Amino acid sequence: MINLMEKPEEGIRQAAEVIKNGGIVAFPTETVYGLGADAQNPDAVKKIFEAKGRPQDNPLIVHIYRIEDVEQLAKEISPLAWNMMRKFWPGPFTAVLKKQDSVPDVVSGGLDTIGIRLPENKLARELIKESGKFIAAPSANLSGKPSPTEARHVYDDMKGRIPIILDGGSCEVGLESTVCDLTGEIPVILRPGGITPEMIEEEAGIVKISPAVLGGLKKGENAASPGMKYKHYAPKAKVLVARGNDINTIAKKIISRYDIDVRAKKRVAIICPESYERLYGTRKVFALDSQNPGKGLFSTLRHADEENIETIYFHAVREDGLGLAVMNRIIRAAEFRTF
Ligand code: TXA
Ligand code: MG
Repeated sequence: MINLMEKPEEGIRQAAEVIKNGGIVAFPTETVYGLGADAQNPDAVKKIFEAKGRPQDNPLIVHIYRIEDVEQLAKEISPLAWNMMRKFWPGPFTAVLKKQDSVPDVVSGGLDTIGIRLPENKLARELIKESGKFIAAPSANLSGKPSPTEARHVYDDMKGRIPIILDGGSCEVGLESTVCDLTGEIPVILRPGGITPEMIEEEAGIVKISPAVLGGLKKGENAASPGMKYKHYAPKAKVLVARGNDINTIAKKIISRYDIDVRAKKRVAIICPESYERLYGTRKVFALDSQNPGKGLFSTLRHADEENIETIYFHAVREDGLGLAVMNRIIRAAEFRTF
């Protein structure tokens, strides 16, 4: 673990050396920590899949330093796609574009498209620049676990599996980037994230949200949705998402189950936005920032595990703005258990 808050240049230099030599390193971005390798080196990229225990058919996002570099990785880029990239980069936005033949199959998971992102985090950009490579990087968690938003989360999952973890403090966004398909005439959100549907619509005039995203928000949709074949973002605790038309209805549902569990001597907790905390009296609540509920979501799930919580009740948030990304993640962490 190298603390970049104290000695950024030396840490970046060492990590860049590892990337150049075909190794893998964990590094901070503004969304979550990434586990990076030289995107043009298939053997290096394979090490990422091994370290994470990640299924081979799940493609990786390639991180670049300059917008012009997109053309080395992607082709047939539409004017709309250029506009979107200029608008949302650097930032938590991943453009899915037709890939160049030179992109290794192991990166694209066998698809003919590639996800590309130009991150905003200064340390991430320094690392890409210093290595002189494009960096393929998924989130730096073990496959299936909540994404890491602090270096110690990476350490907990990856110790002994990777040579370097760069510690750049906690990630500002706290949820992964918005993955947006820009190969057609209308942008399609494949995974909601830091750039909201409203922001994309404002820029493009129109936006579609993939049925897999909304499907995940409906009850019982899990079997039908192919993207759902892998477990995601799950803590050890069992997560249950309470939904309803108003906050009092939701709170009532949670309280009745919570109190039964407590009488049965179970270790339970509630996750809700800070402004709803008062609804739960003296019960155990982990509060999320009401303005930015995504930021603390993954760290709270990990924290609940550290406290050996058995069941987490999640008070659903509105599915607009960043709330869509929050609900998309928590519904998966709950393996679609809603009530
Ligand atoms: O914020 C982020 O995006 C972070 C940081 C490290 O940049 N990365 C990240 O990567 O979350 P990962 O691998 O954990 O999630 C990438 C998601 C996966 O769901 C993958 O299936 C999807 O993006 N994806 C990647 N390339 C794609 C493509 N060509 N077409 C469709 N989906 C793609
Ligand atoms: Mg991930």
